[in-house]
Amino acid sequence: MVKVTDVAHDLVIVANRLPVDRVTLPSGRKVWRKSPGGLVAAIEPVMRTHGGGVWIGWAGGTNQKLKPFEDEGLSLVPMSMSAEEIEGHYEGFSNATLWPLYHDVVAKPAFHREWWDEYVKVNRRFAEKAAELAAEKGTVWVHDYQLQLVPQMLRDLRPDLRIGFYLHIPFPPAELFRQLPWRRQLLEGLLGADLVGFQLPEAAANFVRLVRQRVGHKTHRDLVYLPDGRTVRAAAFPISIDSAGFEELARSPEVVERAKAIREALGNPRRIFLGIDRLDYTKGIYARLRAYSELINDGHFDVEDAVFVQVAVPSREQVEQYRILRDEIERLVGRINGDLGRIGRPAISYLHTSYPRDEMAALYRAADIMVVTPYRDGMNLVCKEYVACRVEEDGALVLSEFAGAADELKQAWLVNPYDINGMKAALLEAYRADGKELSRRMRAMRKTISQHDVKAWAASFMTELEDVPHHTKNPRPI
Ligand code: G6P
Repeated sequence: MVKVTDVAHDLVIVANRLPVDRVTLPSGRKVWRKSPGGLVAAIEPVMRTHGGGVWIGWAGGTNQKLKPFEDEGLSLVPMSMSAEEIEGHYEGFSNATLWPLYHDVVAKPAFHREWWDEYVKVNRRFAEKAAELAAEKGTVWVHDYQLQLVPQMLRDLRPDLRIGFYLHIPFPPAELFRQLPWRRQLLEGLLGADLVGFQLPEAAANFVRLVRQRVGHKTHRDLVYLPDGRTVRAAAFPISIDSAGFEELARSPEVVERAKAIREALGNPRRIFLGIDRLDYTKGIYARLRAYSELINDGHFDVEDAVFVQVAVPSREQVEQYRILRDEIERLVGRINGDLGRIGRPAISYLHTSYPRDEMAALYRAADIMVVTPYRDGMNLVCKEYVACRVEEDGALVLSEFAGAADELKQAWLVNPYDINGMKAALLEAYRADGKELSRRMRAMRKTISQHDVKAWAASFMTELEDVPHHTKNPRPI
């Protein structure tokens, strides 16, 4: 039996990452930096509105023994990771096995038994920490593919808890998932939760089908019936952003001023295209830039008329496929600019960096056409942020039909990122669209985003989770 610490929490968030990352600068100085990615962007505002919760996660770095601390009102509990754990659990099983497998095998997943062992070990440690911190009959919300074994491990330790799990990335069809040598263990791990949430209904259906086929449990629609009498629900909860917060930021005089300065710095072209992505092979950056460069090459417009600003946020730089991708993209950008650019007028303005929220908002305001063309993406929050920042109801969104957000943002120019000619046609249409067309589309998308914000997302998940009856069959002795 695990000991419940003196300070027990009604809500415990368990995610691989904390919202802040402890990084060492080249000077040797250590600083806190906001963590990359959609998960942190979504959970942080939820935690801020829910006082009294605690967030368990890794603060980046190797063997950092950090004490629990507060960051701008959030209680954070850092988990240390050894070099072997980072290699096996994070870079290996999470990001070289599960990540490509769950993203439609866009890259080939690698299967290594040693990685799996580290994944199990780290999941156990996170489960034990959550068991220690959660109050009697409290709620624990576990996040994402790095921690799929935590729900069942936690249930074994603390059957009194309500346990929710949310997957931020796609959940693959059975035909792909079944490649995984540990498929049954992962499904059983997730079934420790009362509620398993996905971005889209197809993902939830994939999961239920797999549970029926591979674990042999009875299922009916979105419910799984376990032999011990428990019921697990699997459903879609499409994630969103802090729409009002982004809108407010976009309206602030500083951001308006900064957006103007960005346009000027780019030479005030007629149109600015923008891409902002983690430098990841699922994001389709290479094909998108190629399509764009072909439009210039074909003579549809010139580098005086338009520029493509591509922000590539550094990501998972120790994983081989990410290093290869960076080289490929940077070689392509160099070639395009070398062939098509003029003095002071590159075709692509490429930035390998991450920006704070206010600079992102200024970029969104400065850009006429936002280009989001992943081969596969659980949701994609960047496109929602763009829409939230277009307070003048203008601007075009070119969006991949393989991003979860395409289910909601139907008025975007939807594209198949594998179809270069199709992408070129959509980019050109967006380039040429008149004000009336743009505002018709943008107005509809803004309505969707303002109604379905991150607060509504979290509230719907929490309400469903709280509706799960508590199990009194095996009460935990106190
Ligand atoms: C995606 C995943 C998150 C992850 C983020 C950044 O949004 O869903 O779980 O944290 O990417 O990736 P990283 O490997 O840097 O945590």
